[in-house]
Amino acid sequence: MWQPTLDDRSPRYQGIADAIARDLADGVLRAGDRLPTHRRLARALGVTIGTVSRGYAEAERRGLTTGEVGRGTFVRGAVSRDPWPEASGEPESIDLSLSLPVIVPEEGQMLAESLSRIAADPSIGRLLEYDAETANPRQRSVAAEWIGRLGLEVRPERVLVTAGSQHGLNVTLASMFRPGEVVLTGELTYPSIKSQARALGIRLRGVELDDEGMCPEAVDRLCRQEPRPSGLYVVPTLQNPTSATQSEQRRRELALIAREHKLWIMEDDVHGFLLPEVPPPIASFAPDRTIYLSSLAKCLAPGLRTGFIVAPDELRPRLLTGIHTSMWMPPPLMVEVSTRWLEDGTADRLIEAKRRQTRKRQELVTRLLGPGLLGSEMLGSEVPGTEVLDRPGLDGCRMLRHPLGYQVWLELPEPWTTDEFVAAAREREVVVIGAGAFAVGRHGIPHAVRLSIGLPSWEDLERGLLRLREILAGAAVTPAY
Ligand SMILES: Cc1ncc(COP(=O)(O)O)c(C=O)c1O
Repeated sequence: MWQPTLDDRSPRYQGIADAIARDLADGVLRAGDRLPTHRRLARALGVTIGTVSRGYAEAERRGLTTGEVGRGTFVRGAVSRDPWPEASGEPESIDLSLSLPVIVPEEGQMLAESLSRIAADPSIGRLLEYDAETANPRQRSVAAEWIGRLGLEVRPERVLVTAGSQHGLNVTLASMFRPGEVVLTGELTYPSIKSQARALGIRLRGVELDDEGMCPEAVDRLCRQEPRPSGLYVVPTLQNPTSATQSEQRRRELALIAREHKLWIMEDDVHGFLLPEVPPPIASFAPDRTIYLSSLAKCLAPGLRTGFIVAPDELRPRLLTGIHTSMWMPPPLMVEVSTRWLEDGTADRLIEAKRRQTRKRQELVTRLLGPGLLGSEMLGSEVPGTEVLDRPGLDGCRMLRHPLGYQVWLELPEPWTTDEFVAAAREREVVVIGAGAFAVGRHGIPHAVRLSIGLPSWEDLERGLLRLREILAGAAVTPAY
């Protein structure tokens, strides 16, 4: 761990920035090095976390470092590619950082039962073969029927099976766009597309969001500016991180704009199956322009690693080649488990159980972070099912979430900044992700954090939320300055 020597003559926070400058000049630090977390450095130097935060802020102001909210502070010159926070693996911390579905206790048993049925099937050996079509006809037919339930009619031969939505997105980006091309995405977006685009040399531009997600007028405006975008990545249902869900009207508008400007839409419907009623996918309004990506990760289990692509016929060969290039096909055993769950009603039971538990967790959020704490009231939103917790008369203090969603987007009240809140939460061993991890571009990044409520046990979630409540109420740690 980097350990600076502080000069007694200047305030300690300045000493930290001075030491970074000195060690950079001396070659002790190099561009791209990650500096210790605020907490570790504070402990090592015997100073408060606030002093370290201030020292790092001073170093950033001098252009020596770059802070990536929720991920750490880096010596300037290189950008880390991993969008996830460093501390999420610390055993003692309560992890509200990873967007994972609620786990239903019976899941393990359901898997065991399916595996024993598969084991007893005389054709089990077929699951050891390559399949150039990504999955066998029965598996694709079950997938097509399932996708049809979301309002996208598709013939089984058009379904490509992937190892999840992230894989589908990676295949699509790599197959459809060349380095240097521009893809539009929400100005807050799923962090993985940022690292994927960076790795592929694709440029992202952030589109303004409102309570219904991506604004069509903003897409239209950016399409009329240079450099002209060639693609649009959109998560129309339970957008990550804001949980915004687009109305049918807005989906139609995006479809129209994409047609007009010849954009390829990448519609990531990873959360679509979670909601009982959801407007039809954008792909149903612009089937000729949309690459529809979906997955069983959120509604069933991420470990199934099973997702689907439905694309215009003319793109199918390209995307199939992309899947072959990346992994040939997803593991057939997992696709088979997924297929059986979709076929035999397990999926419906699991989704129902997840919805029940998620609703209870969101109610806990309301109890612990809700109106009593923030002096706010629950306002109905124009968008069905999306709740906005607003504090009248005070900007920047809203809580966006959906009663069936796994995430809470908490816009922080004054005087918190994202960095300070993330650091204060870590000090109390709660890991949350700050807005910077989701931000495309540097402008207008809100002071906000995402809380993922699916991963921790009920007790840990309650403890973690209570700690955040204390921080917000000013009872525990107050902002350093
Ligand atoms: C918008 C979005 N797309 C894709 C994924 C990943 O899906 P999968 O596990 O199917 O790769 C996530 C996970 O958080 C997500 O939020």
